[in-house]
Amino acid sequence: MQDFKGKTAVITGAASGIGEALAHEAANRGMNVVLADIEAPRLADVEAALRDKGAEVLSVVTDTSSKDAVFALADAAFERFGNVHFLANNAGVAGAKGGTAWSTDDAEWDWVMGVNWKGVRYGVQAFVPRMIEAGEEGAIVSTSSIMGLNTGTTSPYNISKHAVARFMEGLYYDLQMEAPKLQAILLCPGPIATEIVKSTRNRPDGVPVEEEGSLGHRGEVFHNWLQEEGMTPEEVSGMVFAAAEDGSFYVHTHPEYVTASFLRRVKGVTSEDKLPLPLPKDFIEG
Ligand SMILES: NC(=O)c1ccc[n+]([C@@H]2O[C@H](COP(=O)([O-])OP(=O)(O)OC[C@H]3O[C@@H](n4cnc5c(N)ncnc54)[C@H](O)[C@@H]3O)[C@@H](O)[C@H]2O)c1
Repeated sequence: MQDFKGKTAVITGAASGIGEALAHEAANRGMNVVLADIEAPRLADVEAALRDKGAEVLSVVTDTSSKDAVFALADAAFERFGNVHFLANNAGVAGAKGGTAWSTDDAEWDWVMGVNWKGVRYGVQAFVPRMIEAGEEGAIVSTSSIMGLNTGTTSPYNISKHAVARFMEGLYYDLQMEAPKLQAILLCPGPIATEIVKSTRNRPDGVPVEEEGSLGHRGEVFHNWLQEEGMTPEEVSGMVFAAAEDGSFYVHTHPEYVTASFLRRVKGVTSEDKLPLPLPKDFIEG
């Protein structure tokens, strides 16, 4: 995708972090921007900031785990701007309490899989047929994670991000066969300085947390570490638009993490003893 000026971007999870940075990058490139997020007040702040830059903006408060809501978002975007050229399925949540394969609460599974995985699928279902019909160049980027390529324990986050990665690899082939003017992009961020660790702020009723109203010690430490050591969301958005320009599929913000963890996974899968490799001591949970 080479031309952005006057084209339309739709970004979910646009009220914070990576989505907010993608929205600014789109506006900086002269695109119309459709902002979608579940957090209305923050969404309004981002909308105001983009309008100050002179961008044409439409905000739609959207819960991406709802198929109806994502289809309503598509209706609103196509009605206002005629076509969509850049779709970022980016909204995501880290989860709440977690646990083992057998003990993680069903409500947490449903929440995390709903936002992180179904939200991506609904985005593709709602937008891609209409983007194909319009017959113009475009890109669909979905946000997975280094945890989407890595092996490890059964946190709903890790499983959801694996689903996104594999789904997008499939979309890449589907588009090559059926709609080569559209490009698939898989964003696999490592640590980024955002609010992701605090995503229980958006959890539905019934999802249990460790300590009501608090992240708990471990979460607070991880949040602070991300703010200090994480890459800025602006760097990430620059990488995503560069991938749209050069036709890349995988976008790795921290390739060193991916290579090490992915090779580890391959080694386990292909090992002679037919067992996953033991987890490293410093293994980072999703
Ligand atoms: N920050 C990291 O280190 C990191 C690493 C790997 C992947 N990611 C992924 O990047 C994406 C963006 O997250 P971020 O890091 O910018 O975090 P963030 O919390 O700053 O932003 C996520 C946004 O998604 C929104 N959101 C949450 N639930 C929603 C729902 N049901 N419907 C619509 N919007 C919803 C939030 O309100 C928020 O604005 C996520 O998919 C996340 O999993 C982040």
